[in-house]
Amino acid sequence: MSTAPSTWVPASLRPPLPAGRVHVWRARLSAHLPALNLLASSLSAAEHERAGRFRFEADRDKFIIRRGLLRRVLSRYIETSPDRLAYAFGPNGKPALATKTNDLEFNQSSSGDMTLVAVARSRPLGVDVERIKADGANLNLARRFFAPGEIEALNRLGSTERTQAFFRCWTRKEAFVKALGEGLSMPLDNFEVSLLPGRSQVAKVLRGEPEAGPPWELHDLRADPAYADALCTRGPIEGIDLFDV
Ligand SMILES: CC(C)(COP(=O)(O)OP(=O)(O)OC[C@H]1O[C@@H](n2cnc3c(N)ncnc32)[C@H](O)[C@@H]1OP(=O)(O)O)[C@@H](O)C(=O)NCCC(=O)NCCS
Repeated sequence: MSTAPSTWVPASLRPPLPAGRVHVWRARLSAHLPALNLLASSLSAAEHERAGRFRFEADRDKFIIRRGLLRRVLSRYIETSPDRLAYAFGPNGKPALATKTNDLEFNQSSSGDMTLVAVARSRPLGVDVERIKADGANLNLARRFFAPGEIEALNRLGSTERTQAFFRCWTRKEAFVKALGEGLSMPLDNFEVSLLPGRSQVAKVLRGEPEAGPPWELHDLRADPAYADALCTRGPIEGIDLFDV
């Protein structure tokens, strides 16, 4: 069965999430600015404290909106109102639901005006989105962070294709380290991803022993042509449902 996502649609209030599927939610942050106060009212004291540390109002508002939307999305899957959700954090900061009575896994990524939230049951996952900058496909950055095979693949491309491939590579690598929960503690040149569009697997672990168990799969979400994005999940999935918040 093809797992390629189709189109983004509005969701029912409580969309059923079977074990084999992944739900990804997309929101444009600016569209939710009118609901800023309502979203802020669902944040925890710690989130308010973090919001208060932003220097610029626009960045603070974006933080409030993305955290408020995350709470709104998660509350659709559990019997808890958005303001009563509590998080626990992994050793490198990956958030999870503190209540262990459910098997819900999630991950969020935001860039520019876009936020994506991926949700699944009993399945680690990571998501990443980056706004594409025409001059952002920086080979020096690639040489610093990417694996040798990825750098070679980039070098073979012309400048237009290279920009797309650079951001595809970046978001896939980020989605993988976010799925693992490693964050910046995992060297990004430790493993390789494909630079071609479409479903693929994290290619190889270059240093250390490859992990036993099902492979890590990468999926394109295509949230917006101005952004690159990637979803990384453990093992094969039956499909991805794409929802607009
Ligand atoms: C924090 C990190 C996990 C992702 O950061 P990012 O890509 O800047 O930001 P994203 O919006 O995609 O993800 C942030 C969200 O991921 C989640 N998160 C935090 N730590 C995480 C971890 N260890 N694992 C998975 N998810 C994590 C949180 O929900 C966080 O949201 P918050 O900012 O509201 O707290 C980390 O990998 C990072 O800083 N990466 C940047 C590395 C880099 O410079 N790469 C260059 C490639 S060329």
